Formats: sequence, C-alpha cells, structure tokens
Amino acid sequence: MLPYMVGLAISQYLWETHRAIFEFFTLEIRRRRGQVRTYLEIGPGHGLFLDRALSELGHGAAATAVDISPTSIDITRAIMEFFRPNAANVTYRTGDIMMLDMPERFDFITMGEVLEHVDAPGRLLKKVGSLMAPGGGAFVSTCANCPAIDHVYQFNSVDEIRALITGNGLRIERDLALPAEKLPMDEVIKRRITVNYCAMVTSHESH
Ligand SMILES: C[S@@+](CC[C@H](N)C(=O)[O-])C[C@H]1O[C@@H](n2cnc3c(N)ncnc32)[C@H](O)[C@@H]1O
Repeated sequence: MLPYMVGLAISQYLWETHRAIFEFFTLEIRRRRGQVRTYLEIGPGHGLFLDRALSELGHGAAATAVDISPTSIDITRAIMEFFRPNAANVTYRTGDIMMLDMPERFDFITMGEVLEHVDAPGRLLKKVGSLMAPGGGAFVSTCANCPAIDHVYQFNSVDEIRALITGNGLRIERDLALPAEKLPMDEVIKRRITVNYCAMVTSHESH
C-alpha cells in the first residue's frame, strides 16, 4: 500500500491528467469556500486532496478523513502533520465507509478514485448522498476502461459513470472527462481508451 500511495501522490504533480483533476477539485472547493463548515473525505489515500481542501477552507472547517486502509490513514495523518502541524480540526477514522456509523452530515464530501475499488459503486454513491448536508456538494472521481489489479469494478464508458451518478439520487453540476490519448471521443470509445473522470455533484434531496 505504501509504495502505491507514494506513486499516486507523485502522479498528482507529474501526470497532466491528475494535475487537471486536482485543479478542477481546487476550483470547486474554492467556489464553495465560506459555505463549508464540515468536510468529509472518503479514501484520502495520500492525503494531498485533504491538505488542499484545508488550505482553501481555512481553520473554520472541521474535517473528517475515513479510509479502509490503516496505511492510508497513517500517510494522510503524516502529510497533514508535516504541512499543517497546528491543524487540530481533523478527525481520522479507519474503516469501510459503508459500515461506519456516521450520524453527521457534511457540507463538502471528497471521494477521489474510490468508486472503482468497490463491488457496488451505486450503493456508495447513495451513501455519499445520504451523508450530504442540505445544500452540500461532493467531488467524485473515477475512470472508465482502466483495468488494474485493485480495480474491482470496471466502468465501460463515461456515460455509464454519469448514469450511475444520476441514477443514485445525485445531480451532476459540472464534470470533466480526460481520455488518456488525444483522440476524438468516438475513437476513444471504439478503441476502449482509458478515460479519467471527475464531477461536482449535489443531492436531489439536499435542495
Ligand atoms: C486509489 S486511492 C485514492 C486516493 C486519493 N483519494 C486520490 O484521489 O488520489 C483509493 C483510496 O480509497 C480507500 N478505500 C477503498 N475502499 C474504501 C471504502 N469502502 N471505505 C473507505 N476507504 C476506501 C483505499 O484504501 C485508498 O486509500
């Protein structure tokens, strides 16, 4: 887990697709600055999104980080302690988000690259909606046609991802689809090229 997370963290800076997704995330959290008192991150992994979120939100927001992997929680905590040693407003929880008892509701939820790691991504999206405070939003990212040893769920297209999001009580405000090769979208679909995807979503029920 540790080398994987270190590699993923480095890709945040070196791989233009991950940089673009990070930029999308930064603009979305900045857009909601001032409205976010409670922040939840599901699967922070290397912790870089959490660090960026707290940079944008300032000290006013209380953050919770939930990861099924103790190693990911250790890395996230170490990154946070290194970059912001005085941050007292972060709660770390180790466990499966589907199993944890969480009565709180959150103004902003981040769930980067987790959907493809679970058997039932639809149920996970529903869970995200149920954790959202009224008027809240969530940043979600995943990928289509991206086989990997730890990707237990394969999306075949970006439209399939969008349909799963909207079919589970969420509304897409803005999204971004980034094919791994610079080809027209019909070619990307025909040749099953990997597409990285991210979206800012809200809940129908939270309006
Ligand atoms: C690929 S990493 C993503 C890291 C980071 N969010 C990003 O976007 O680069 C996926 C993370 O989600 C965590 N994860 C997977 N399934 C989970 C679950 N059911 N509940 C909580 N965390 C989960 C993994 O342990 C891992 O740290």
